[in-house]
Amino acid sequence: MSNPSDYWHVQIGSTANTSEIFIEVTKDGPYILHGQVPFHLQYIIPDRQGVSRSYENGESFKLEKDTYLCRCGLSKDKPFCDNSHEQARSFGVDLTDTATLHDSLQTAEIIEGPVFSLSDDEKLCAYARFCDQGRRIWNEISYSDENSLEGAINMAHYCPSGRLLVWNQENAPIEENTVAEVGLIEDVLNQCSGPIALWGGIPVKSSNGRYYEVRNRQTLCRCGQSSNKPFCDGTHASMEFQDGLSKYTQK
Ligand code: FES
Repeated sequence: MSNPSDYWHVQIGSTANTSEIFIEVTKDGPYILHGQVPFHLQYIIPDRQGVSRSYENGESFKLEKDTYLCRCGLSKDKPFCDNSHEQARSFGVDLTDTATLHDSLQTAEIIEGPVFSLSDDEKLCAYARFCDQGRRIWNEISYSDENSLEGAINMAHYCPSGRLLVWNQENAPIEENTVAEVGLIEDVLNQCSGPIALWGGIPVKSSNGRYYEVRNRQTLCRCGQSSNKPFCDGTHASMEFQDGLSKYTQK
């Protein structure tokens, strides 16, 4: 029998999780999270200026061997599926996959700096805003001092979607091989809920059975409104998606 890892491509600098944890996108239905992995709310904590600085883990949820997770935004039992997706179309939610199966770096913009460079695949943006620290990552990469470079690397590592990668002089991404973890993003500043953050190279199988490129950091839409499904494109912020789970939400 062939190994699933024969079918996926791993982004340079990333490491695929091989411990039978993966996400399956079902056609017009939920995500199925296969396997056991830390699974909890993940709050984006801003500083006083409103710039995203850190994550704070919140409530954890028990997983089954296969756990069905809402991706239409309509479940009354979030983060789990309650079959509300069966009415999704009548609420204007189309769950059809629209993301490319091609490698992210094929469409990324490259910003060259004097020491390091930055790749930016904007369509993956999950609007987490860690890139706004200091002079912002696109400017920090244009400096050669240690503080600027460390700042740029730090911002990229916090970027949950993998939109941003900092590349070293050997032309390799500077990546941390984070352990597998799944976070339900809660945006404290905007008081809205965000995507499912996959950390640590968790493979994602599309609804047509093929795998997306495996990346260390990925964000999956759970509001049902992304134009780049199954990945988040930040639309949850403009629609003020609420999962009803955040301890910070006052709306
Ligand atoms: S969760 Fe971000 S666009 Fe749906």
